[in-house]
Amino acid sequence: MKLLSITLLLGSALSLAGTASAATAQENWDLHCAKCHAADGSGSTKTGQKLKLKDYSKAELQSAFTDDQALAAIRDGVKNEAGKMTMNPYAEKLTVEEMQALVPFVRSLKK
Ligand code: HEC
Repeated sequence: MKLLSITLLLGSALSLAGTASAATAQENWDLHCAKCHAADGSGSTKTGQKLKLKDYSKAELQSAFTDDQALAAIRDGVKNEAGKMTMNPYAEKLTVEEMQALVPFVRSLKK
């Protein structure tokens, strides 16, 4: 009986650890980014069209920014020429590792 409760305790501790672990880049993209940039990075969502998002499935647009610039955009957000925040910063929503993992993910959207 004692062994059983230890096993149960261990089991719930493990599943708790599971929920606390970082989401994958794909999960974060779907959750935070796809509403603007679209699942395929084309920016073809309603919001994306309003914001005139670049099509990240195009190689020539991907080369317009460096990995560092992409990470800075994710971390600090993006402002338009009028100084209005058009992409919110994710520094408080995602871990450093999650933000770093999104950079190669964005690169992988290029066709
Ligand atoms: C509210 C809409 C919105 C959301 C949500 C959003 N972005 Fe953006 N993003 C923008 C806008 C606007 C720009 C600037 C115009 C452009 O580059 O297309 C931009 C630019 C970028 C850039 C290019 C930066 C550069 O230097 O050109 C990257 C990379 C990027 N976003 C990644 C992401 C990732 C990853 C997420 C999710 C964590 C995300 N975006 C969420 C609107 C959004």
